[in-house]
Amino acid sequence: MTKKTRTQVCIIGGGPSGLLLSQLLHTRGIESIVLERTTRDYVLSRIRAGVLEQGFLSLMEEAGVGQRMREQGLPHNGVSISYGDEKFRIDFDKHAGNPVMVYGQTEVTRDLYDAREQVGGALEFNVENVTIVDAQMDRPRVTYLVKGEHQEIQCDFVAGCDGFHGVSRKTIPDNIRKEYEKVYPFGWLGILSETPPVDHELIYANSERGFALCSMRNENLSRYYIQCSTLDKVENWSDTDFWDELKKRIPRETAQKLITGSSIEKSIAPLRSFITEPMRWGNLFLCGDAAHIVPPTGAKGLNTAASDVYYLYNGLRQFYENNDSEGINRYAQNAMARVWKVQRFSWWFSSLMHRFPDQSEFDHKMQIAELEFLHSNEAAQKAMAQNYVGLPY
Ligand code: APR
Ligand code: PHB
Repeated sequence: MTKKTRTQVCIIGGGPSGLLLSQLLHTRGIESIVLERTTRDYVLSRIRAGVLEQGFLSLMEEAGVGQRMREQGLPHNGVSISYGDEKFRIDFDKHAGNPVMVYGQTEVTRDLYDAREQVGGALEFNVENVTIVDAQMDRPRVTYLVKGEHQEIQCDFVAGCDGFHGVSRKTIPDNIRKEYEKVYPFGWLGILSETPPVDHELIYANSERGFALCSMRNENLSRYYIQCSTLDKVENWSDTDFWDELKKRIPRETAQKLITGSSIEKSIAPLRSFITEPMRWGNLFLCGDAAHIVPPTGAKGLNTAASDVYYLYNGLRQFYENNDSEGINRYAQNAMARVWKVQRFSWWFSSLMHRFPDQSEFDHKMQIAELEFLHSNEAAQKAMAQNYVGLPY
């Protein structure tokens, strides 16, 4: 016997995209159900980035979920870039008029789960065999199993917020879908340590030995990354090995200040740029990592998921409140226009900051020339700052 439920928007995926969309819709009285393959604790256990654009902050405030972020988040008014022992700062106030907020994605997701649960939001965990049926019809359906029981959700729209490995993107037929991908020939080895950050702002380092990043979650929780081979394994790296290598990649004066400690998390992530078009197929809308992946260099993964949510939320509001389909009809075009600009920035910054295995001497000279130009040119710094703090929605 299949249990049938009706809602307005069925959201597949209980990560930041799905939760933020569900909470925003709730503020306008639009019903949704979030289907999550794993559990709240599993989702919260995933360590992800933590640099939020102003647009993201505004959406969280609109969703009524901004309080803890305001209280505990760290506003940052710039980042530093180093190459060899050279280090310079990109001033966000001067060039972009906006700071970014350092506040871990785990905390964002926790705040969103708390908000959904406080209002009794419909959340289904441990769902299996999620299938989107009749996405092109007026009444799409989503079928799934929970505890072995067949379930069916009848809805107006399906939001595919189920990330890169989800089912939503693959529901769009191969002959309709166009995918673009660039796989980078390196990964990031990252650690989390309960140590004070080496600086009050982030430091992105291009060194002869490869890229490094000094980041943080709060005054006593630091996040560091070093570029590594795609064949590397976490078990190859003791904490001591990691700290020694990091010190060789950041300016000497910074390395001398570095406070090391035991890692409480250590992992390797691959880097890729990926985009799928279209982001809409009938009444199925792809959102966030389900539609695109960026290399973490520009901290744009979560922020681009947020701009997708902004376009989809406002399109759905327009539909339900004014019976006007213009917003949802323009969703794919509006979201994709910003996605490609963010992909470009993430690709540019990744190409600038990493050592590529097949890099020629000329290529390396071009990198250094670009860094020296960025170091010395206000227009270049303005372009970098405006991309980093977030392009307008
Ligand atoms: N059915 C239900 N849920 C699913 C399915 C499925 N078939 N497949 C995946 N999911 C869930 C995953 O368990 C995950 O919790 O969808 C969620 C997708 O979340 P994310 O991958 O975080 O993607 P998104 O919400 O778009 O957030 C994008 O978060 O993970 C980071 O790097 C990512 O910064 C980016 C941001
Ligand atoms: C992080 O703190 O995890 C982080 C910060 C900035 C990035 C990438 C990751 O560009």
